Amino acid sequence: MPHKFPNDFLWGASISAHQTEGAYKSDGKGLTVQDTRVRDNHEIADFTIASDHYHHYKEDIQLLAELGVQIFRFSISWARIFPNGRGEVNQAGLDHYQDVINECLQHNIQPIITLNHFDLPQTLEEIGGWSNRETVDAFKDYAITVFKAYGQQVKYWLTINEPNVMLLVDQKILGKQIPIDEKYQQFHHLMIAEKYAFKLCHELVENGQIGPVPNISLVYPATSKPLDNQASLYFNSVRNWAYLDFSCFGRYNAVFSDYLKQKGVTITFAPGDEALMKENFPDFIAMNFYTTVTVEKPTDKNNMTEGISDQQSEDIMDWGFYKGVTNPYLKKNQFNWTIDPDGFKTTLQTLYDRYHLPIIITENGLGAKDDLTEDGKVHDPYRIDYLKQHIEQCLEAIEAGVDLFGYSPWSAIDLISVHEGISKRYGFIYVDRTEKELKQLARYKKDSFYWYQKLIQTNEIPP
Ligand code: BG6
Repeated sequence: MPHKFPNDFLWGASISAHQTEGAYKSDGKGLTVQDTRVRDNHEIADFTIASDHYHHYKEDIQLLAELGVQIFRFSISWARIFPNGRGEVNQAGLDHYQDVINECLQHNIQPIITLNHFDLPQTLEEIGGWSNRETVDAFKDYAITVFKAYGQQVKYWLTINEPNVMLLVDQKILGKQIPIDEKYQQFHHLMIAEKYAFKLCHELVENGQIGPVPNISLVYPATSKPLDNQASLYFNSVRNWAYLDFSCFGRYNAVFSDYLKQKGVTITFAPGDEALMKENFPDFIAMNFYTTVTVEKPTDKNNMTEGISDQQSEDIMDWGFYKGVTNPYLKKNQFNWTIDPDGFKTTLQTLYDRYHLPIIITENGLGAKDDLTEDGKVHDPYRIDYLKQHIEQCLEAIEAGVDLFGYSPWSAIDLISVHEGISKRYGFIYVDRTEKELKQLARYKKDSFYWYQKLIQTNEIPP
């Protein structure tokens, strides 16, 4: 078998609305929880201008066409379509995404659209956000509106980005801090909203395909001690399988249910939830992957803070269940995230073995500090190295029988990192701004751009 990707494999690049668009109040857009988010670190860029993709989308899509991608993953900002989250539709918002979609299609790029990526409309946050069942109803109306508006042209849809990260990390990045029982009621509402998205997409979009988009990372036990293995079983369930078992099997994961029971959490179902969850399923799984996690059974409560400090860090602690530890076998990036390409393949195999659904990677990449040289170049061999190692594992996973049909890494253009502002860059395309200084926001192709372009042209991993 030739060691290359199949001819119909989809190569892409990904972004989200709030991290790139800017124009946070333009053309009738309402505020979102990202616009109002209070940042601990005021030295990092906010999302008001971001990469100004709202005004640069033609140039950015032109560059993506030059890169050669067949798909472009972006999200719609719900508050551009419904400035108050529900109620009156903002035609200017609908027109904007119509223009973006047309631009993609003119360049033979298929959009893959995420319905919501961390940017809940602020007015919905004010009624309790995902804790309030009315947010699910608002999401349904929003989904109906965009499926009807764009369903003729857009066939690939993603539901809600990373509900598992939204709930596991410190809620400050996504809204207010909430107690655990409310958190898992939110889990239920997010999952029910997702089920409605599956149902509505299948009803309203001819030949439409839709998938969940969680961040999945295998959780390893720190040692072969049985209790460390038990810790990894619990964190795998809370972090990974709870979300996908609900999406793909239509049931609560049993280990997760025990976790909730031990925590004293009860989830309230509304009439119809049970039927909805058991009758509506995804066509594929979209997976975001950056790293793996290693845990042990916590034994000493001293000097420990409950919670997770950063979505991918080892700084995790849930007394009685699991505690993150450093994996001595793995290197880390500049931002303390472990790098684990072999774990990527194992995660893909585990996922496929568990759900038997086609998989597409919708995020994977290296956040790093890049330098623009005086002659307009960005030399990023570290990013090429990361991508090369991970893409090699995609190929190995395909050869091992995983139905992986596409790879759309993070990110197409530089964007504002959720945690670290613009200093932590992911793009193939450099956006010239700093945390404070906007400059001209000019675009430059990085070395990784040319490397990825060659990969797409040949379906083989370049040296
Ligand atoms: C993913 C999110 O979990 O992680 C992205 O979907 C995010 O929105 C990415 O940018 C990387 O995280 P960070 O904190 O480096 O931006």
